[in-house]
Amino acid sequence: MTDVNGLSIAILGGTGDQGKGLARRFALAGHPVLIGSRSAQRAQEAADSIGSGATGDENAAVAARADIVIVAVPYEGHKALLESLRDVLAGKIVVDCVNPLGFDKQGAYALPVEEGSAAQQAAAVLPGSRVVAAFHHVSAVLLMDPAVDKVDLDVLVLGDDREATDLVRALAEAIPGVRGVYGGRLRNAYQIEALTANIISINRRYKAHAGLRITDI
Ligand SMILES: NC(=O)c1ccc[n+]([C@@H]2O[C@H](COP(=O)([O-])OP(=O)(O)OC[C@H]3O[C@@H](n4cnc5c(N)ncnc54)[C@H](OP(=O)(O)O)[C@@H]3O)[C@@H](O)[C@H]2O)c1
Repeated sequence: MTDVNGLSIAILGGTGDQGKGLARRFALAGHPVLIGSRSAQRAQEAADSIGSGATGDENAAVAARADIVIVAVPYEGHKALLESLRDVLAGKIVVDCVNPLGFDKQGAYALPVEEGSAAQQAAAVLPGSRVVAAFHHVSAVLLMDPAVDKVDLDVLVLGDDREATDLVRALAEAIPGVRGVYGGRLRNAYQIEALTANIISINRRYKAHAGLRITDI
């Protein structure tokens, strides 16, 4: 497994549930964690709530300082934010966990994305970055819960750069209980993002925080 020890991780939109949850687990695993936000003050407050040495600043500032950058903003703000950070993200591994979903009376459903998926949209907007898709199905509730020692799921990691997907698989395994599994090329990210709508339906029906496990590997 690739050595990810000491790599710093910035989280764009790290003030939200998913960003804070991932930040908390990576900070507990000993990674320098930088919370990003549109507001430096909100970022600092979120970092203080996480502890374990996490720091906060505006999205562009944390993106510039980190080895790996996770994108954890709502789909609505995804494209514009990445376009504004194109130069600062060049040469970096950018990990996209964005699920383009709509909600109506029947629950969650997958939205069409012109580029194919949110991850492919990121790759189109960031031609100089190494875009990887991962962490779509991880429950922010479980990541934040101090009573949850182990988060019981496989994280599917997709991308076109083998070194980058190996690194993100190893990073996923910094979260106790998680196994990082290669899930295919970036062009297959749509159904991974869309599958989150099914998982949300499962969670509602069974009052759970369901996760996926891949068998026989
Ligand atoms: N929640 C989960 O369990 C979960 C699990 C897997 C994947 N995800 C994915 O992770 C992403 C974040 O989820 P979340 O539940 O944490 O979302 P969220 O709380 O709604 O948003 C996260 C942060 O994004 C920033 N933001 C909001 N609108 C923005 C915009 N238009 N442009 C730039 N930044 C904006 C906000 O930070 P500031 O106002 O501080 O800038 C906000 O705190 C989503 O794409 C979701 O599909 C979520």
